[in-house]
Amino acid sequence: MEKLLSFLDTNRDRYLTELTELLAIPSVSSQASHKPDMDRCAQWIARHAGSLGMNNVQIMPTPGHSIVYCDWLHAPDAPTVLIYGHYDVQPVDPLNLWETPPFEAAVRGENLYARGASDDKGQLFVHLKSIEAYLKIHGTLPVNIKMILEGEEEIGSENLDNFVKDHTDMLKADLVLISDSSMYAKGVPSICYGLRGLSYVEIEVTGPDHDLHSGSFGGSVHNPIQALCEMIASLHDKNGKVTIKDFYADVLPLSKLERDEFKKLKHSDKTYAKELGVKELYGEKGYSTLERLWVRPTLECNGIWGGYIDEGTKTVLPSKAFAKVSCRIVPNQSSTKISKLLEKHLKSIAPKTVDVKVRFLHGGEPAITPIGSPGVRAAVIALEKGFGKKPVYQREGGSIPIVVQFKKLLGIDTVLLGFGLPDENAHSPNEFLNLENFYGGIRTSAHFLDELPALWKNRSKKKTKK
Ligand code: BES
Ligand code: ZN
Repeated sequence: MEKLLSFLDTNRDRYLTELTELLAIPSVSSQASHKPDMDRCAQWIARHAGSLGMNNVQIMPTPGHSIVYCDWLHAPDAPTVLIYGHYDVQPVDPLNLWETPPFEAAVRGENLYARGASDDKGQLFVHLKSIEAYLKIHGTLPVNIKMILEGEEEIGSENLDNFVKDHTDMLKADLVLISDSSMYAKGVPSICYGLRGLSYVEIEVTGPDHDLHSGSFGGSVHNPIQALCEMIASLHDKNGKVTIKDFYADVLPLSKLERDEFKKLKHSDKTYAKELGVKELYGEKGYSTLERLWVRPTLECNGIWGGYIDEGTKTVLPSKAFAKVSCRIVPNQSSTKISKLLEKHLKSIAPKTVDVKVRFLHGGEPAITPIGSPGVRAAVIALEKGFGKKPVYQREGGSIPIVVQFKKLLGIDTVLLGFGLPDENAHSPNEFLNLENFYGGIRTSAHFLDELPALWKNRSKKKTKK
């Protein structure tokens, strides 16, 4: 291990140069104009994986963006780890708020700034580099590795389900390893054991069948923007609770143990509010901030538009107004069920004066992963060795919908080993990755691969004894 760790240390600058190259490809999955960049990014990763010594490298087309697959399967008695990551990124707007261009990675202080630095190119790169180090130094790996890197995570992994269903043999493994989440805080390595899911809809409100002169007609018809705002404003009550009937019906209550554990995590509402630039926090009454973020479902309006928003003024009473609304859901809620409840509710509160259409955009299920598994135990040791500190256990508010699907379709659990930080501006201007966490992540990944076989073997022994 020593030789390998010193190799990791002496190659830091090269890792940064290579990651900068990967970050320079604007792989924005949601925008059709970036399709060629998506392909270029898949090719870059495939070429890179091949150059490290990964075998069977394939760019596998889907009806959407391609999936990159590769493997290394020469450790016959060792477990097989399926590493998942995503090479697509979120759009960069508003561009004028970036201090340096989003696709020209720049080091400022101890951070690397670029779209995708943290979510998820920087994090998936960590594993490529630990694999590379093993193959360079030892010519072999302690475990078998399969990797799938998809290009549609940020748009709901629409084609991944079918891909996994169609390739269960190819993807057969003992556990999944994903680095696409955050540590609890800087200097606090973490194991994440819970993620929220998502239900996403678009609302279209139509008033008059064409735009009207607001002087000639204003006062005689219900402005669809006003109608939409009234509807959206009514979705929360004065206690911050979502008003949709049965919205909370399936929510798994927080156990006393978890509640007590969350209380032990260092958190200050005051500092948190300051970091986010808000005067005061807002949320569901009766729950702490961590509970609101990790174990309670929420409803957000993600965007709202309609009417005239260009330069100057236009006295128009618009025909249409739109909003994108999404719910973060928690165990044991179901994304389809919540989307249906949402649609039914929106229709029921639609004023008679307008027509309301609800379109389902995408969804994903929430996940809870077991914490006593050999994979998690390997991760705990690896984090301690990689970061010099014992990790804490946490849940997170974001979603990685494929986690549940891996369990359902392949029957395997996921270890969520996040190297991001909650304040790294993911999905927002000036996204960054803390470089110490990047290098610590590579070390941790290497330790994980090193620790896993023994823990896995013990588990099998225990299993056969029973
Ligand atoms: N890396 C995030 C998921 C994440 C965020 C995990 C924060 C833990 C904490 C991932 O890339 C992401 O953003 N996922 C989307 C999924 C959605 C489009 C279905 C999300 O959570 O919005
Ligand atoms: Zn993301």
